[in-house]
Amino acid sequence: MAPSPTVDQATYWNDEGGRRWVANIERVERMLQPLSQRLLEAAAASPGERVIDVGCGGGVTSAALAQAVGAQGAVLGLDVSAVILDVARQRYGNVANLKFVLGDAANMPLSSKAYDLIASRFGVMFFPDPTAAFHHLRAALAPRGRLVFICWRALEQNPWMAIPTQAAFEVLPRPEPPAPHAPGPFAFADAERLRGLLESAGFSAIEITAVDESVALGSLDEAVQQMIRMGPAAAAFTAADKATQNEVVAAVERGLAPFVSAGRIRLQSATWLVQALTA
Ligand SMILES: C[S@@+](CC[C@H](N)C(=O)[O-])C[C@H]1O[C@@H](n2cnc3c(N)ncnc32)[C@H](O)[C@@H]1O
Repeated sequence: MAPSPTVDQATYWNDEGGRRWVANIERVERMLQPLSQRLLEAAAASPGERVIDVGCGGGVTSAALAQAVGAQGAVLGLDVSAVILDVARQRYGNVANLKFVLGDAANMPLSSKAYDLIASRFGVMFFPDPTAAFHHLRAALAPRGRLVFICWRALEQNPWMAIPTQAAFEVLPRPEPPAPHAPGPFAFADAERLRGLLESAGFSAIEITAVDESVALGSLDEAVQQMIRMGPAAAAFTAADKATQNEVVAAVERGLAPFVSAGRIRLQSATWLVQALTA
């Protein structure tokens, strides 16, 4: 979930990023479920529509979209990670109107003006040149085609991630902060910049809506395991020796413990729900 800005995205998602995502996929997808709901409602896919799911991951959103468009419609799940797409294919490979294709959504060949909707749940923040990537995606949309995606606001506005990350970096060496707007989960935190780059890519009727939802991190132990393996501290945690790792686990447990209620943790998340039309 937190690729290093110096690592090529395709490499990251086919290597450690992909392995981490797959290892935690059930837990993370459970956590993202209420946010999917918001995305799918806004996307409002209807029978017969042709849809692309960008950075489709394990395919759960693609499958929901495939159900919404029905037998007359079709969904194309795109992902740059072979290891993650394997999971999508294992799960949904037999869904007749759903196809998964490996490729970089920023520049892979796509039929021109062929799609009614491009949707994405946290799959569009990793483009090195977002304006060029959205320009490329827009060319695949039919006139009045919709772009609908959900992305994270700033780390500090996401306590579900900020609290365990802060705790982990009490023990681990803090890496250099990424360059502002570097590709990564928080690349679109600045809504005005995001609006500007979508405008530059040729989109109109751009709506960027704040969504504040609490998300379920499971038990304390589950939350700790997820956050040390997937957050901004994951790479430093993996590189640390066993004694340091034990200290990190203890620090993250202490950080999250005040939020346990009836054995479960819920914390706030902050995202942008983004909607736009081809001009
Ligand atoms: C945070 S995960 C989200 C996965 C999925 N949408 C979900 O919500 O479960 C980001 C996904 O985007 C994919 N991705 C990153 N950059 C991409 C690109 N340029 N083209 C296609 N997929 C990309 C990654 O491989 C990964 O599967």
